[in-house]
Amino acid sequence: MNLEKFVRKNIWDMEAYSAARDLVAKGDYIFLDANENPYGNWNRYPDPLQIDPKTLLANIKGVKVANMVMGNGSDEILDLLYRISCNPQKDNVISLAPSYGMYYTLACLNDVEFREVMLDDDFDFLPSDILAKADQNTKIIIICSPNNPTGKAFDTNKILELVKNFNGLVVVDEAYNDFADMESCIKYLKDFDNLVVVQTFSKAWGLASLRAGVGYMSEELAKMVNKVKMPYNMDGFTQKSIIEKLQDLDGFQKQVTLLISERERLMKNLSSLPYIEKIYPSDSNFFMIKTPRHKELMDFVLKNGIILRSRHSMPKCQNCIRITVGTPEQNDKLFEVMKKF
Ligand SMILES: Cc1ncc(COP(=O)(O)O)c(C=O)c1O
Repeated sequence: MNLEKFVRKNIWDMEAYSAARDLVAKGDYIFLDANENPYGNWNRYPDPLQIDPKTLLANIKGVKVANMVMGNGSDEILDLLYRISCNPQKDNVISLAPSYGMYYTLACLNDVEFREVMLDDDFDFLPSDILAKADQNTKIIIICSPNNPTGKAFDTNKILELVKNFNGLVVVDEAYNDFADMESCIKYLKDFDNLVVVQTFSKAWGLASLRAGVGYMSEELAKMVNKVKMPYNMDGFTQKSIIEKLQDLDGFQKQVTLLISERERLMKNLSSLPYIEKIYPSDSNFFMIKTPRHKELMDFVLKNGIILRSRHSMPKCQNCIRITVGTPEQNDKLFEVMKKF
């Protein structure tokens, strides 16, 4: 990919903001450079490039620190990718429908045209349909896999077909990949400089409240994105919490295994309820059910203290409700309430 052609001219030309500390080697200094209060525990600005959590994560994921961008949630990484590449009122982004709503919201925020390719009745797509929608102003194709709200992961070969045949960026949003029985697309980064994989600490890692996401991409592109992001976009407490999480991979894996087995148990229980027309297979920590009584069911469940997510208004999701897998106790409670309904 020709990065200079891909990146907006103003971004390509600009100098990054730099702090005095960025210019010196790591060491034990007296910091009188950034107008901080010298007292306290959280008085210092955090590392703008998040080197410590990135170093741990790079080892786990088999990439280099230079291939990574960390953000205030993966939503920020996606926004930065739009911002560096899409000229407002000129360029466009393509994604699938139904999929994660933020791709459209970011297009609106950045004044960029958003093109959608409808999934088929099996919630799948043909790469040729996406490529047919692309033109010389298409900068990004986003594929959410496993997809939200359908729960289903796409065939990696289809994603790679897009990567090979599209002259722009293919972003694979792997927010739910930890729950899927398939490898991450991260392993293809070394082969394709137009591939970006976005992951998050908000789902399997259980840190949604802290806002932490990661983008994996070519070194050149990562440099460009790091140049544009707010210098202190990830606070020090979050960086510390990520390090703690990454030091307990056993605990992480146990929790993911539990959530997957709870997903299967809850789906099996719900399959005994006659008013549920369909339960969609899932590679995520959520799944969709279809029932003609979806509105009444949502109300009933809410009256019993449980919030579910209606997806009825989304394309191909008529009468559908998305259910997030909870703890065994929460899942039992949901089943009890749904049995009463
Ligand atoms: C597919 C997908 N990507 C990204 C996100 C947002 O992740 P983050 O919390 O890292 O911004 C979500 C949140 O629901 C999601 O479903």
